[in-house]
Amino acid sequence: MSPSPKVRRVCGQEEYRECEQLQRIVWGSISVSSELMSVTQKYGGVVLGVWQGKELAGFLYAFLGQHGRKLIHWSHMMAVHPTYRDQGLGLRMKLAHRRLALERGVRSIGWTFDPLQSRNAALNIHRLGAQVDNYAEDCYGHFPSIIEKGLPSDRFIVHWAIASRQVEKRLKHGPPSEQKPRAACINETLVNSRGRLENRRIHYGLRDSILLLEIPSHTELMREQDLALARRWRLETRRMFQRYFVAGYRVKDFMPPGSISPDRCFYLLAKGGRLDRRRKIE
Ligand SMILES: CC(C)(COP(=O)(O)OP(=O)(O)OC[C@H]1O[C@@H](n2cnc3c(N)ncnc32)[C@H](O)[C@@H]1OP(=O)(O)O)[C@@H](O)C(=O)NCCC(=O)NCCS
Repeated sequence: MSPSPKVRRVCGQEEYRECEQLQRIVWGSISVSSELMSVTQKYGGVVLGVWQGKELAGFLYAFLGQHGRKLIHWSHMMAVHPTYRDQGLGLRMKLAHRRLALERGVRSIGWTFDPLQSRNAALNIHRLGAQVDNYAEDCYGHFPSIIEKGLPSDRFIVHWAIASRQVEKRLKHGPPSEQKPRAACINETLVNSRGRLENRRIHYGLRDSILLLEIPSHTELMREQDLALARRWRLETRRMFQRYFVAGYRVKDFMPPGSISPDRCFYLLAKGGRLDRRRKIE
């Protein structure tokens, strides 16, 4: 039986180098060096690792920042080694980060993620109850990451109100029980002759109280096999989110595969809540 995973703060040059190595494996390059990680850890930020036995299976990097007058943690990176994904390690690190941040009086953690990465959406929105504050078009400009090579680096900017009752409730009781919401679908999709999901028709003028927006469940694979189609998905979803955000809709949840459909996944949008225009990455 494999030992249970342990989450703790990363410490010492050797462990920081292992985090660098994990960045190379996951993104193809290093964007936060071991020097920066150790300094961040000393001055208000957090670098957490999760170990399976002696092996570093994942890490999380967050620095201390300011949003308006409040101190926040900005969680710039989290990665789990491909061998260890979908075993709850990402969730464990997020929960450990939350505990640590609360102990230090920090009540909000922010980060960005690619809206087309369904695994991230499942964890961030559905499991943790993070809120989408804004949509950033090509957020980091050209991005050398192997995960999204060839695609504009669009991101949702999210914040996780770690001290709020909503988040506490979601963490304690889990996501609301799945039931197929009576909702119109913004994009009608089909599986094409090569077995890939594509948009057949997109509706921009819907006014229903709840709307669904479908995304592919494996964008990474699609990008590897059909970059042109993945780029189309990027531009089409960008337009859909931006249009409906302007019309007053917000992301309320994400339905991963197995919730309302065995292998399809959807964002759930509803009216209400403001966009946080200060949360823009220039
Ligand atoms: C994002 C990442 C850190 C998540 O780590 P992880 O350990 O796999 O996360 P978890 O196992 O805690 O959660 C993954 C969830 O996605 C779900 N999932 C798996 N495949 C999925 C898919 N194709 N679509 C949607 N959800 C999926 C899992 O079932 C799990 O949810 P559950 O716990 O409710 O069952 C990891 O995928 C990763 O390193 N990705 C590459 C780097 C990255 O994108 N980092 C984040 C931005 S910096």
